Amino acid sequence: MWAELLPVGRSSASGGYRRYAWTGADADCRAWFRQQAEARGLAYEVDRNGNQWAWLGDPAEGDAVVTGSHLDSVPDGGAFDGPLGVVSAFAALDELRGRGARLTRPLGIVNFGDEEGARFGLACVGSRLTAGALTVEQAHRLTDGDGITLPQAMEAAGYDPDAIGPDPERLGRIGAFVELHVEQGRALDLSGDRIGIASAIWPHGRWRFDFRGEANHAGTTRLADRRDPMLSYAETVLAARREAELAGAVATFGKIGVEPNGVNAIPSLVRGWLDSRAADQATLDTVVTGIEKAAREYAAAHGVDLGVERESFTPVVEFDHALRDELARILGTDTELRVPVLGTGAGHDAGILSGRVPTAMLFVRNHTGVSHSPAEYAAEDDCVAGVSALADVLEGLACT
Ligand code: GLV
Ligand code: MN
Ligand code: MN
Repeated sequence: MWAELLPVGRSSASGGYRRYAWTGADADCRAWFRQQAEARGLAYEVDRNGNQWAWLGDPAEGDAVVTGSHLDSVPDGGAFDGPLGVVSAFAALDELRGRGARLTRPLGIVNFGDEEGARFGLACVGSRLTAGALTVEQAHRLTDGDGITLPQAMEAAGYDPDAIGPDPERLGRIGAFVELHVEQGRALDLSGDRIGIASAIWPHGRWRFDFRGEANHAGTTRLADRRDPMLSYAETVLAARREAELAGAVATFGKIGVEPNGVNAIPSLVRGWLDSRAADQATLDTVVTGIEKAAREYAAAHGVDLGVERESFTPVVEFDHALRDELARILGTDTELRVPVLGTGAGHDAGILSGRVPTAMLFVRNHTGVSHSPAEYAAEDDCVAGVSALADVLEGLACT
């Protein structure tokens, strides 16, 4: 399975993945998912929001156990963020069958659409729509960098954008959702453990900062006469680092747009996207308020107008304690395996679902902690340990 997925959407220039929602690479990932489901004799379906499902047993019976993750990527992402959870789900099912386990609950595997939000700027669109955490009107307004709207992109990919919306009935059939994911930090490397259980996801959001100045000639405009938005943007990037450091949080400007984007022109617009996360809401508020205040001061000093818009926000997620404890109990019977419980600053579909369905996550060690980069890596024996842990969990939850 891994070998089949590896070439899909891979850039030969960077070695990273460019699997953006509703593109050709995304279609290839989806075709792969469908083929994996059908090869195993699972019932395959796509829901109204484009999420893919594969079922063993009848989900209409309810109280289903579901596992899975996503197959899309950030720009030049790694191979593991998302796909490890989907591949491990199919592999764990194979393992369960090999063990001769008998299901007492329906078992589902899911591939949520557009988890990273790389194309339309909002993460977890598939799970948000399903959970009712994103309205149809908001989703219809999402637009990519080329001006293509989400409905246009869905339609071009053969899906019906008018069908999207909340799916409480589908969620109501799920008794437990467990997402396996590569760890995106070094906690397991540092503790010397292969597998971890998630406790919580930090609150996180994305803010767009539009610095508007005046385009002018780079050679002839006196420094004193300039209204250069690049200066206030640059100072704001440094302020973000300072505020995050002070608060023990993180803040990143990782995407920027410049107009007119000419080497010999002072920009008229610098648009920067801030991603900020903290362990609790009050800290995050302090950080973002501090960055915005600094940005306003810098903008004023350079005669630049500033607009700040919050594009998305996900509150803190505390995973279901009973399910988390159940996972710890199931995995605790393996005396070889120590399974620490850890929080994370990364967002996941599991975080979106957790408001509606008992949800848990398993993390697989990533020795360098690098993620959202072509260098993202998890060792094969750790991935195998992840499959085995997931199979144990599914067996404990869904089998006699
Ligand atoms: C998703 O991976 C995120 O945390 O941004
Ligand atoms: Mn990611
Ligand atoms: Mn992910």
